[in-house]
Amino acid sequence: MKKRIIMSIIGAAFMAVTLSACSSVRTQADGQAGATEQTSQTTKPKVDADASASIKGAASDQKEGQHTDSHRAVIYFSSPDSSDMNALEGSTQYLGRIIAEKTGADVFRIVPIKAYPTDYSAHTAQAKMEQGENARPAIKDDFGDLSQYDTIFLGYPIWWGDLPMPVYTFLESHDLSGKKIVIFSTYGSSGLGDTVEHVQSVEKGADVETKAYGVAAGDVGSAKDKVLSWLSELGY
Ligand SMILES: Cc1cc2nc3c(=O)[nH]c(=O)nc-3n(C[C@H](O)[C@H](O)[C@H](O)COP(=O)(O)O)c2cc1C
Repeated sequence: MKKRIIMSIIGAAFMAVTLSACSSVRTQADGQAGATEQTSQTTKPKVDADASASIKGAASDQKEGQHTDSHRAVIYFSSPDSSDMNALEGSTQYLGRIIAEKTGADVFRIVPIKAYPTDYSAHTAQAKMEQGENARPAIKDDFGDLSQYDTIFLGYPIWWGDLPMPVYTFLESHDLSGKKIVIFSTYGSSGLGDTVEHVQSVEKGADVETKAYGVAAGDVGSAKDKVLSWLSELGY
């Protein structure tokens, strides 16, 4: 597990360098993501021990993929895949847990049916190919009826300057009209790009909050207070 986390951190740092040299990838957000933090650090651990312990405790009696009587849901994509709520692996997964803890939201993960390669280069290459083909990788449809939720906290990492393609699969297969969508995201260094607008263009009938929260993977472990104050600003 630790090895995978370390590989992921290295990968994020590598990706930041790769992408900063790549002119086709968008750079730091331009104001549409009001709460985006700007940082160049990519080498700190994703989730430090204290933050990890605190959020693990909070999440211990919360089950992923289950409906309660909550009107809020956190729906996130994060890689590598894990449905173990006590296994802190993904940066976006971690933010999702903080949000769920604070808002009482039910938690659902967008899981591709075909897992991405564990080798980082193969993983990024596959993601790039999917993006080039505008693919819609099949996902497990374990969300059930989402009609009880009036607010969806949608979380995703930035992949090649955009949403991971499985997130498009999710958005296009679920009509979120009439719901509030609140976006949170993590990245190596590039910021959210135009992803908030991309969500808006897919979910035209939804009210997409323009104050998205974004943070670099290297700063996620110390982001809890900022996440909470962002939620508070939005009235949660
Ligand atoms: C396929 C792939 C593409 C990525 N593309 C970008 C990118 O365009 N810009 C960026 O800043 N980081 C990029 N990253 C880094 C991730 O956005 C970052 O590590 C994120 O925090 C991962 O979140 P997770 O741990 O929840 O999966 C990429 C990572 C992967 C695996």
